[in-house]
Amino acid sequence: MIAPSILSADFANLARDVAAVRGADWLHVDVMDNHFVPNLTLGAPVVASIKKATDIPLDCHLMIEDPARWAPEYAEIGAKNVTFHAEASDDPLAVARDIRAAGAGAGLAIKPGTPLEPYLEVLRGFDTVLVMSVEPGFGGQKFIPEVLDKVRTLRAVKDRGELTVLIEIDGGINMDTIEAAAEAGVDCFVAGSAVYGAADPAQAVEALRQAALIA
Ligand code: DX5
Ligand code: ZN
Repeated sequence: MIAPSILSADFANLARDVAAVRGADWLHVDVMDNHFVPNLTLGAPVVASIKKATDIPLDCHLMIEDPARWAPEYAEIGAKNVTFHAEASDDPLAVARDIRAAGAGAGLAIKPGTPLEPYLEVLRGFDTVLVMSVEPGFGGQKFIPEVLDKVRTLRAVKDRGELTVLIEIDGGINMDTIEAAAEAGVDCFVAGSAVYGAADPAQAVEALRQAALIA
């Protein structure tokens, strides 16, 4: 699956830029609060408008403090999947339950420096896990290959039938990095600058998909 990140879109032309990634599996929407990360993007009212503008399922990535307070609202708006950060929550399972009760899948994101092992148990209560391959906050950064060890561990646990989460990767995914991520076992690839920096974003989505399939 390919999930273009609209962080690299033109925020004054969101409907146009969402339409430009026809064929994408999910649309990745980065919500930043300038507290959990040093950047500010958009919130629930804008996500509600995007939801009306597209049939592509919305994958909301909340880079915010206090997800227990804010995350369920994105599920109520109709997001397909709502991901929040492990580092921002002291009870991730409770937040996941609230997201699911509000009708979305629940995702747990982990920053590059955050170990996976403490979360393997709680991931049983989640639908997706988002392995960050850059420090969250900005698009266009360089892929950190070391995080692929976490992907390999997740893939092995999944192959043993002990977890069913969809494995997502986010940050620095492009034609040079997607094959290594696919080989490590990623199911869903988020790509911002590699899609919206291309002359034809829909074609970039298809090229990334093909590269992941070959790997
Ligand atoms: C970064 C965001 C990413 C970002 C990825 O904090 O979570 O979704 O848009 O952008 P690229 O693909 O350019 O690294
Ligand atoms: Zn993201």
